[in-house]
Amino acid sequence: MIPVDPQRFLDDLHHLRSFGASGVGKGVVRPAFSEADIAARDWLAGRMAEAGLMPAFDPVGSLFGLAEGPSLLLGSHSDSQPEGGWLDGALGVIAALEVARAAKEAGGPPLSVVSFQDEEGRFGVTTGSSIWGGNQALAEADTLTDAGGETFAAARARMAARAGDFVTPAQFTGFLEMHIEQGPVLDSSGDKIGVVEAIVGIRDMKITLTGQQNHAGTTPMALRRDAFQGMAAFSHRINDRFRNVVTPATVWTIGHVSLHPNASSIVPGRAVFSMQWRDGDTARLDRMEAIIRETAAEVAGEMGLELGFGPLLGLEPVAMDARLRGALEAGAEAEVPGGWRRMPSGALHDATNVARLMPVAMLFVPSIGGISHDFAEDTAEPDLVTGLRVLARAASALTG
Ligand code: GLV
Ligand code: MN
Ligand code: MN
Repeated sequence: MIPVDPQRFLDDLHHLRSFGASGVGKGVVRPAFSEADIAARDWLAGRMAEAGLMPAFDPVGSLFGLAEGPSLLLGSHSDSQPEGGWLDGALGVIAALEVARAAKEAGGPPLSVVSFQDEEGRFGVTTGSSIWGGNQALAEADTLTDAGGETFAAARARMAARAGDFVTPAQFTGFLEMHIEQGPVLDSSGDKIGVVEAIVGIRDMKITLTGQQNHAGTTPMALRRDAFQGMAAFSHRINDRFRNVVTPATVWTIGHVSLHPNASSIVPGRAVFSMQWRDGDTARLDRMEAIIRETAAEVAGEMGLELGFGPLLGLEPVAMDARLRGALEAGAEAEVPGGWRRMPSGALHDATNVARLMPVAMLFVPSIGGISHDFAEDTAEPDLVTGLRVLARAASALTG
């Protein structure tokens, strides 16, 4: 087995947390292309070089640490949500670095490392790996905007001096991504490892309702065309309409709302909000889309609002590769006999996009209290190390 160094792995993981440390618990604020994100990527590139890997930034800010010749690729992402934890993505990148570094010191096998850019979707949905995997054209991605109106093209221009070409996927024999679970399953069952069977699909679309901005004191209720009331009615109605379509595993979220002009004494003239839905079945995702479009049109019609839909972004559900998954299962059984389980992933991961290019598999470690996308996100350090060892075992088995 590859002789990993758990302390060096934990030290690097804590060091990465220092880029964008929020000051609240172990939280981080390191969105894609922020100063903290770029500084973290520069530090990672240095650590890759020290480990004998060749650092290579692609045109969208994803950072690879390349071994010579054909290699197995390990990694995840190092950008964070606007309020994120220290492990989401970072764990998979630093575990990859440690396994590849230890392998290099031991004289092989060749392992490469990646930290994809904008997995957390400041601009799109898993943007960096989505472009690399061919799910989305670069020109199309360039027009995407973040919540503040900056384009992806402008953001990636900040890293242009570092950028080389896109890395050729054919040099990689497969991809393993280690991640925190970000949900309650392992924490409640007591299992130490989750081996992922499949990753759910997602759809994400901005919706705009436009009414008439007006005085909040003089405009009679019956005459209002209030964009917020339209959004609230849509949200309420959609929960009801979905009832006969969804399963207990289906989820949907209005997570970002922008009201214009957002003032107490003004009837809101415009509401722009995100509508996101996820499920393991493509047909159900499509059905939900139709219901969303119909319900929004119905509410807009009834309330005298104009309706606009942004581009529909999405990723299909993806099953993990049986051979790679088997290597993770064997590694888990060796490290924690009987203390692991197979499970689906309700969170999205770069592995979904990479699956278009090569075989992929994923493993999870427990999230304390099932909390993630929050400063409070955490995992017990012994559990992080168990995951590291399972990853090392699988990487050895697949390259032996
Ligand atoms: C990725 O962080 C996701 O939203 O699932
Ligand atoms: Mn993640
Ligand atoms: Mn995330």
